Amino acid sequence: MARLGKWLLIGVVALAGVLAIAITATVGWRPLIGPKARPLSNRTFERTPQRLERGRYIASALSGCLYCHSHHDWAAPGTPIVPGTEGAGEVQPEANLPGRIVAPNLTPDRETGAGNWTDDQLARAIREGIGHDGRALFPMMPYMHYREMPDEDVASVIVYLRSLPAVRRELPKTEIIFPVKYLVRSMPEPLTSPVAEDASASDMVRHGAHLVNLAGCSDCHTPQVHGERVPGMDFAGGMILSGAWGSVASANLTPDATGIPYYDEALFVQVLHSGYVKARPLNSIMPVVVYTNLTDSDLKAMFAYLRTLKPVKHRVDNAEPATECKVCRQKHGAGAEN
Ligand code: HEC
Ligand code: HEC
Repeated sequence: MARLGKWLLIGVVALAGVLAIAITATVGWRPLIGPKARPLSNRTFERTPQRLERGRYIASALSGCLYCHSHHDWAAPGTPIVPGTEGAGEVQPEANLPGRIVAPNLTPDRETGAGNWTDDQLARAIREGIGHDGRALFPMMPYMHYREMPDEDVASVIVYLRSLPAVRRELPKTEIIFPVKYLVRSMPEPLTSPVAEDASASDMVRHGAHLVNLAGCSDCHTPQVHGERVPGMDFAGGMILSGAWGSVASANLTPDATGIPYYDEALFVQVLHSGYVKARPLNSIMPVVVYTNLTDSDLKAMFAYLRTLKPVKHRVDNAEPATECKVCRQKHGAGAEN
């Protein structure tokens, strides 16, 4: 009996060892021990008119914070924000999310909003993915992109959020399904050095890449399977967005013949301002309500960058019936032709 006990013990220890190596080599320990987070500081961001203006631009045009964090009429053309709910939060409306994902109320309301959160709590959430309560945020909140948001821009957007009228809006909490709930804990990464202003403004392509990152275009235009981007399909479209606006696949934005090779700068600016490609209206889940507020010079820089993307052969046509696509592994219009 004692012998059997000994072997059992060795077996258990060996199994634990193998498991430990497997966990370290695959998902890591973060799903079990919680996200990497830096301690909070007591810094505050001084309110200046310049920051207020810049923050408004980031929140309502470039990064669309208010788009995700406000209540919309999702079935109406253009999915307008319901007046008086700017920044007051929203249960995210897309079908196929891994659970109930809630963009919280960021207005200064003390009970249901961000009124009691410090400036550094907000800054850490925006760029490092840790909520005010220490929780790892679901990366639909694009903190992986916002890591590259310059310090001055983060200060500006927080100054702007503080200027919003306080709105009392009680929302349910985010509930992520298993195992995604644990896996997201390995995503947050503390920022340990300052992020300087984008110095590449004179280099249009690099500046455009910076802007496209902060605008989160790839979150919809790069197809994903179980939350992982399909390799080699950057900006190649095919991601399905379903909800009150219907069901539609994102477009291939690369310069391949199946993408948008026929676009020029003028057409791009016009599409992002109007939501129309010549006479063809875009489905309103393409957030033109946000990008319409971008300056022409920012749009031109974005287009200059999109022009340099690797062409990817991938036909997506929402006017055709949805069929299985073996390239992006989704079911979309003209999918079977790929
Ligand atoms: C694509 C939608 C989307 C965009 C764009 C977006 N957010 Fe979020 N945000 C979310 C969601 C969803 C959550 C909640 C995630 C969760 O509960 O795990 C969130 C969480 C947050 C939090 C954390 C609140 C807390 O609990 O501490 C802050 C702060 C925040 N967002 C600010 C911003 C700012 C500022 C911007 C723009 C620079 C922005 N968000 C853009 C969807 C978005
Ligand atoms: C919330 C998801 C989402 C985001 C974010 C998004 N798009 Fe789109 N986009 C779509 C969808 C869906 C379509 C297809 C609409 C249709 O076919 O009616 C689309 C279509 C387009 C088109 C039209 C292509 C054509 O058919 O001629 C352009 C151009 C475009 N997007 C550019 C961008 C750029 C640039 C960004 C970032 C600044 C961006 N999109 C961000 C979802 C998104």
